[in-house]
Amino acid sequence: MAADHVIAIDGPAASGKSSVARALAKRLGFCYVNSGAMYRAVTWGALHRGIAVQDPDAIAAMAEEVRIACELIDNESRISIDNFDPSPQLHSDEVNRAVSSVSRVARVREIINLQMRRCVASRDVVIEGRDIGSVVFPGTPFKFFLDASPEVRARRRNAQGQRDEIAMRDQADSSRRMAPLVIAPDAERIDTSDLTIPEVVEEILKRLRTKRLSNAAVISHR
Ligand code: DC
Repeated sequence: MAADHVIAIDGPAASGKSSVARALAKRLGFCYVNSGAMYRAVTWGALHRGIAVQDPDAIAAMAEEVRIACELIDNESRISIDNFDPSPQLHSDEVNRAVSSVSRVARVREIINLQMRRCVASRDVVIEGRDIGSVVFPGTPFKFFLDASPEVRARRRNAQGQRDEIAMRDQADSSRRMAPLVIAPDAERIDTSDLTIPEVVEEILKRLRTKRLSNAAVISHR
């Protein structure tokens, strides 16, 4: 199998993307890439430098200036800003509140997409995000859009102990001009409201079989 398969897992906040994408990557022996973490890292960088997150020109200038890097370490993406790994800070209330404003900036999206494409070149990857199937890798035949009812998503975020205004973030992510959260026409939608993580993973593996992804994990469960 040529090592350049991209499986896109898009969807709104708390739709189950992260857990499903990570578990799926493990089952397939693919790398797991979290594109939301890149937007969060740039947001953290702006907050850390005291840049007004509502000022798109200042955010774009910062994104040009710092070194935003994505690497695959132990089969997972790792993000750094000027060689600093901000992972522990990426889900703070401040970052949750500001990330939609930062991810609306066109130059930020260009830089992140460039780094992400570079990072995964010639690798088999599962990438989670908002626009992976619609914008970043529109040519991949393996696209899934996970969703869940707003009540279930709010419950999941609360259970994670996070204060995250997901309704506000959904609204901002869906209505922005650049790469809004949309379902790619050829993506398969899966409602995860009543499914466990392993059930969603099995459902995706089943659909990958019909799409003829020739991977041992897919074939052995035929
Ligand atoms: O997946 P997440 O909730 O960690 O993503 C954080 C934010 O990043 C989300 O509110 C929108 C933005 N994002 C994006 O615009 N495009 C992506 N591919 C991934 C995330």
